[in-house]
Amino acid sequence: MTYEPPAHVRIFDTTLRDGEQSPGFSMTMKGKLKMARVLSALNVDVIEAGFAAASPGDFEAVQAVASEAEGPIVCSLARVNERDIDRAAEALEPARRKRAHVFIGTSPTHREHKLRMRKGEVLDAIDHGVRHARQIFGDVEFSAEDAMRTEKTFLAECLKTAAEAGAKTLNVPDTVGYFTPEETFDVFSYLIDAVEPEDDVIFSTHCHDDLGMAVANSLAAVRAGVRQIECTINGIGERAGNCAMEEAVMALRTRKDTYGVTTQLDTARFYEASRLLEDITGEKVQRNKAVVGRNAFAHEAGIHQHGMLSNRKTYEIMCPEDVGAPISSLVLGKHSGKHALFARLEELGHEVGIEAREPVFAAFKLLADQHHEVSDDQLRTLVSGASNRV
Ligand code: KIV
Ligand code: ZN
Repeated sequence: MTYEPPAHVRIFDTTLRDGEQSPGFSMTMKGKLKMARVLSALNVDVIEAGFAAASPGDFEAVQAVASEAEGPIVCSLARVNERDIDRAAEALEPARRKRAHVFIGTSPTHREHKLRMRKGEVLDAIDHGVRHARQIFGDVEFSAEDAMRTEKTFLAECLKTAAEAGAKTLNVPDTVGYFTPEETFDVFSYLIDAVEPEDDVIFSTHCHDDLGMAVANSLAAVRAGVRQIECTINGIGERAGNCAMEEAVMALRTRKDTYGVTTQLDTARFYEASRLLEDITGEKVQRNKAVVGRNAFAHEAGIHQHGMLSNRKTYEIMCPEDVGAPISSLVLGKHSGKHALFARLEELGHEVGIEAREPVFAAFKLLADQHHEVSDDQLRTLVSGASNRV
């Protein structure tokens, strides 16, 4: 039987768990609730609200998000032991739709150095943990931590055990961000074939960005048949971060011709979500960040500005309104040309006559050499000074 993956890709947000557990990104309860509201408005499929057994604070945060969120499934992380799972169940009690996300390390490094367990013991722990979770939850996800550094055949055995015990989502994390897109595609193709999931079971990807490949790896996983991407707003997460949600989702949307899948996200909320996270954590995203960075829809070079003034598609593959960003800006600086300068002056109400154009442009270039960006006020001063001289 060949596995027919559905067209819908679920978006599992872990900003409040994997994102929040990284240095510089801790959030107050109020901040987490604000973030959960924007994630609900974005229409993500799942919000991982925390790790209920990790601390009383995490427990309360999971409980608070569970009490409020109406649309998305709310989820808590738990190790495959009864205490963690019961604690998750307690915290998620008020949720309308809930999921237990149980995990255990499966790689030789984790088995030998962290867990001190043999393969058979890991399989027993998976079977026991998932079965226990299924007695409480209709929706259980299993993650094989450090899956990508696990022996392929043993990894398939772990996932099969979890599926037979009742897990409906099989998550295969690249915990240390070690894999390449080609390897990711190959390993998921192998696993989907080896595990032969039932129709109501889906594979999930959870990529870290240590080599800067988390988004590319997540997309490669989707090409192989994976139907859940675990990701965070602005790509925050352990060490170099997780797959950035806005990048993965906009890639799926912009390149539907390549991936042929859909998500249910209201992408016009991305900018708002990104800025809210900046405000809550005090950490700014890099200016040139894809999709939500301040330069994502800004143009300074003269040739680019000329192209943009004729047709936005010359230098933009998506519209700022698709992600809720402010309209494209033509930044006036030393690389700008006459088209952009005189178009801006016209917007500011200054028609510059033919004879004044050269001196105004020359004065603009001198000014631009001294400043990163020339402001509207500087332009007004410049144009009145130059036309007085003509
Ligand atoms: O990176 C990872 O392996 C994780 C799991 C606990 C899902 O965050
Ligand atoms: Zn992770």
